[in-house]
Amino acid sequence: MKQAPWKLVCVDCGTQYPGLDVRYRCDCGGTLDVAHDLDALKGCLDTSTFDLRLASRNPADRSGVWRFRELVLPLGPEEVMTRGEGNTNLYRSERVQNYAGLRSFRLKHEGENPTASFKDRGMTVGVTVAKKLGMDRVACASTGNTAASMASYAAMAGMKAFVFIPKGKVALGKLSQALAYGARTLQIAGDFDDAMNLVQEVCDREGIYLLNSVNPFRIEGQKAIAFELLQDLDWEPPDWIIMPGGNLGNSSAVTKGLAELRELGLIDRLPRVAVVQAKGANPLYRAFVTGRDLDPLDGAETIATAIRIGNPVSWKKSLRGIRQTHGCVTQVTDQEIMDAKAVVDAAGIGAEPASCATVAGARRLAAEGVIGPDETVCGVLTGHILKDPGAVVGYHQGSLDGIEGTFANRPIDVENDLGAILEAIR
Ligand code: F0G
Repeated sequence: MKQAPWKLVCVDCGTQYPGLDVRYRCDCGGTLDVAHDLDALKGCLDTSTFDLRLASRNPADRSGVWRFRELVLPLGPEEVMTRGEGNTNLYRSERVQNYAGLRSFRLKHEGENPTASFKDRGMTVGVTVAKKLGMDRVACASTGNTAASMASYAAMAGMKAFVFIPKGKVALGKLSQALAYGARTLQIAGDFDDAMNLVQEVCDREGIYLLNSVNPFRIEGQKAIAFELLQDLDWEPPDWIIMPGGNLGNSSAVTKGLAELRELGLIDRLPRVAVVQAKGANPLYRAFVTGRDLDPLDGAETIATAIRIGNPVSWKKSLRGIRQTHGCVTQVTDQEIMDAKAVVDAAGIGAEPASCATVAGARRLAAEGVIGPDETVCGVLTGHILKDPGAVVGYHQGSLDGIEGTFANRPIDVENDLGAILEAIR
């Protein structure tokens, strides 16, 4: 295999490794960054390259990940395993802005990806690399969305997929996808953190390719959220970008992507990045506030099962990125998440609970004066409303434990009778 033009570099000790290798961590245990030769790109890459590709019919050009391939992985369009990821809408809603207390608040809906979550951006790159490395089996631990995404991309690439999920803690839409796309689905009697430990061990022993976001190539694809968002904004950076944090791959990726755009001079300043955690699953928040290393949390708990994680793999990269952008971390309660979700849903946009931590966090940061009412803010909605129908119906029917249906739209039971129906609608 030809030498790759990028390298893998340890976040902790700086040791460098060849770009294309089955390796997820440094020998010292640190996580790895993909380091591109940005100097070689300076001056020969400008945003018009990406803008022109929007009009192309080539699937790689049309993908909201591979359109930016020079900054993701410089592969030929014919080499990539794509489903046309990205190209997600950037919404603006009066209702949501008023709720958050922000005058310019847009929402990039990553639930509009092929498998209905932001994970497809990283997965197209992860599976493409798996193929290049000649791997025919892939695995991940997941709270559901990574599993759904990996199952789909692996099926399309003809690979065998193994997903490790916490039994009883994965939303129905996501479990359905993993099963339907044909992944071997192991429901573990433990939580996500247990599943994450186990899958790393199994991959090492069995020579299966690990596709969690500890895999540095997943992060490279995930960065394209930032690229596409900036392209949506005609390369004018917003003041803030807000997203939920779980295993912390996404915030690591977005901040890395922004730093690269800035270094290349494709944007003139860095947006500040805010990460929102659920109060019951808040290890990054605690590390940020105390200024200490991350202290893993046993028994993380939140209704937003996607981010029910106590020991996030990418915390160091995430904190590094947040600090670099002068951003912050906040936390919100499950009640705040579900109320924000009801507002996002009723605006006609809709997203799964974890996604709506973004809006709950924006509201909190605005109320605390961290974000000014006139600052320009973009939030990432990470997953589709239909991923977790149980949370939606439970909220509106008032059957969720410990959650008030503040904005509930209760279903009405009516007799099979015209008079009763007319009475109900009047
Ligand atoms: N939002 C949703 C809908 C998610 O599925 C996840 C993570 C996050 C936010 C947090 O992103 O982990 O990059 O900080 N889901 C992973 C999974 C853990 O297995 O699907 P993160």
